[in-house]
Amino acid sequence: MPKVVFVLPDGTQTGVDARDGDSVMLAATQNGVPGIVAECGGNTSCATCHVWVRDDFAPRLDPPGDMEEDLLDLAVSERRDGSRLSCQVPVTSELDGLTVEIPAVQP
Ligand code: FES
Repeated sequence: MPKVVFVLPDGTQTGVDARDGDSVMLAATQNGVPGIVAECGGNTSCATCHVWVRDDFAPRLDPPGDMEEDLLDLAVSERRDGSRLSCQVPVTSELDGLTVEIPAVQP
């Protein structure tokens, strides 16, 4: 199982095992990681699953689709280079150790 590492707003890191193919959002919510609200359940309509993907992993992800781009532009509190909606990022074994930061506030 690939591991996803979440960096909480206070700097604490927590690693969880994800099922191959699950989204980063599901890896968080199914393992009780705080800060990923995921109000819409992964339907690309809430942006409460915003994360900042660490630089070493961001270039290895497929780019965001149009709906994700729109939400990132309009709905997240602070868009950075690594901003992604975690419900749109699948975890694969090639991404073992994927590390994402969770914003202190979700929109
Ligand atoms: Fe709503 Fe990701 S869970 S956009």
